[in-house]
Amino acid sequence: MSISSVIKDIKGRLDGKVAIITGAGSGIGFESAVLFAREGADIVAADINLKSAEAVVERIKEKFPLNAFNRRAVAYKVDVSKEEEVKKLVEFTLKEFGKLNIMFNNAGIMHPHDDNCLNTDEKVWDLTMNINLKGVWYGCKYAIEAMRKNNNPKGGSIINTASFVGLMGAATPQLAYTASKGAVIALSRELAVTHARECIRVNSLCPGPIRTPLLMDFLNTDEKKNRRLIHLPMGRFGEPIEQAQAALFLASDESSYVTGTEFKVDGGLTAAYVTPEGPCTSVPPKNYFKPTSEKK
Ligand SMILES: NC(=O)c1ccc[n+]([C@@H]2O[C@H](COP(=O)([O-])OP(=O)(O)OC[C@H]3O[C@@H](n4cnc5c(N)ncnc54)[C@H](O)[C@@H]3O)[C@@H](O)[C@H]2O)c1
Repeated sequence: MSISSVIKDIKGRLDGKVAIITGAGSGIGFESAVLFAREGADIVAADINLKSAEAVVERIKEKFPLNAFNRRAVAYKVDVSKEEEVKKLVEFTLKEFGKLNIMFNNAGIMHPHDDNCLNTDEKVWDLTMNINLKGVWYGCKYAIEAMRKNNNPKGGSIINTASFVGLMGAATPQLAYTASKGAVIALSRELAVTHARECIRVNSLCPGPIRTPLLMDFLNTDEKKNRRLIHLPMGRFGEPIEQAQAALFLASDESSYVTGTEFKVDGGLTAAYVTPEGPCTSVPPKNYFKPTSEKK
């Protein structure tokens, strides 16, 4: 048996699917892009920071022999808060790959001046809403248009990154961020119901606090970190790859009867009243992201 015929028989969990991932240049998006590629999808890695999107494509090429599987990953620059750019992102994907099966609307920001009800500036509110909420809406809008054209299989899977803060309150307020994520959950639920008979599934992914630049730049002291860690049953922050694994399930046909959910991947945070004492014993999995200082 030749190597190529063996390779033909290896089917990934996303084999033959085409995925757009926004915010693919860092954190959850980066891990998802590599994982989705490993599982057989063609990837459009989209980010406002083109260099970081190109870095994820490099990582994919380095990790997996895409040519052997005849799969591709391409980087694309997009600002998800601009409708025209999101429209063009989907058009580019259709031109490049002929279809769209998976839309992972993941790009988001947490503004350093996002604060409580009284102190949050309107500019911060608007910027947060434009990226975190309108960006998701635009992504859904053009993905649904594209997915309606799919025949074999019909429809597609849309995953919108929300957050645990859309489900529970925190006395460390970031009002605009929280409001945007609550709205993403509501929007996703409504789209899931509206488009269920078109085989378009829509789920919101609700991560707990994750060790990515978005959160760690903000939690830049031990005091700030410990204020949160005490509420986490597992006693540690999550890793972006742990979100990517959940997104992979939602993207794949394994979740064919899952739609309209608030898919919580939060280490038990939203289930907890009193958390356990003692050291954290769970060993976090390794991410694909390779800091520039990491030796080859
Ligand atoms: N890290 C956490 O604790 C956490 C928790 C819950 C939800 N989330 C959500 O997860 C998603 C991913 O966050 P992350 O933690 O991986 O953050 P991250 O900062 O590591 O990555 C976010 C990526 O989005 C990109 N981006 C920002 N604005 C953009 C725009 N206008 N258009 C296109 N791309 C843009 C950034 O360049 C970056 O590459 C976000 O929606 C975030 O709100 C994160």
